[in-house]
Amino acid sequence: MKVKESREYFADVAEEWDEIRAGYFTEAMRDAAIARARLTPDAVVADLGTGTGFVIQGLAPHVAWVYGLDESPEMLAVARRNLAVFNNVELLGARGDALPLPDGSLDAVFGNMYLHHTPDPAAAIAEIARVLRPGGRLVLTDLDAHDQEWMREAMADRWLGFERDDVRAWYLAAGLTDVVVDCAEGNCCTTGPDGETLALSIFVAYGRKAWRYP
Ligand SMILES: C[S@@+](CC[C@H](N)C(=O)[O-])C[C@H]1O[C@@H](n2cnc3c(N)ncnc32)[C@H](O)[C@@H]1O
Repeated sequence: MKVKESREYFADVAEEWDEIRAGYFTEAMRDAAIARARLTPDAVVADLGTGTGFVIQGLAPHVAWVYGLDESPEMLAVARRNLAVFNNVELLGARGDALPLPDGSLDAVFGNMYLHHTPDPAAAIAEIARVLRPGGRLVLTDLDAHDQEWMREAMADRWLGFERDDVRAWYLAAGLTDVVVDCAEGNCCTTGPDGETLALSIFVAYGRKAWRYP
């Protein structure tokens, strides 16, 4: 069977994504990741691969402005509904390798389960570093390296998670400092191809844009 591209997969599951996601990633995990950025109420932040707006629901009450970016119009349509209660959220259709935001414009960037869909994770992180202000923070949560090949077909996963050393190296190469790649506050629980319950571990990667950025 042909492996679906990420665009096609998320177009198909957009209306069910909130239910699918709830099994994988809890609000407690999200809020623990957000806390790492030590946001202030005047912060301007972005959530990449925002999907239906799960991370933004945790961010918007605590900051001045949130950009939510995603390449899927179908996921953004659901996000628009989910986030209608907030007046400090702007949703933009965009690919992660060409963010429509100026250099040095953001206090923090987040991305939950976004990196493993990007064609070139190192380039995606470098593009994020471009839009962070000096001292701005990047917090990505994603799967540790795993061997669940079926997820490529079933969930359009391009990467089967990541080695933490690779993620650390990509952060450093992008000009981020104080890099820590740590365990997130829980596992990603999913059902395998034979109906078995799987708990895949999740990392949270933190870094700060250096004051002297190349
Ligand atoms: C696994 S979902 C996660 C959604 C959301 N962050 C959450 O926690 O529910 C991945 C999202 O990333 C988006 N995405 C994948 N590759 C992308 C890319 N290269 N640029 C922008 N968005 C992308 C998909 O459309 C999808 O909405």
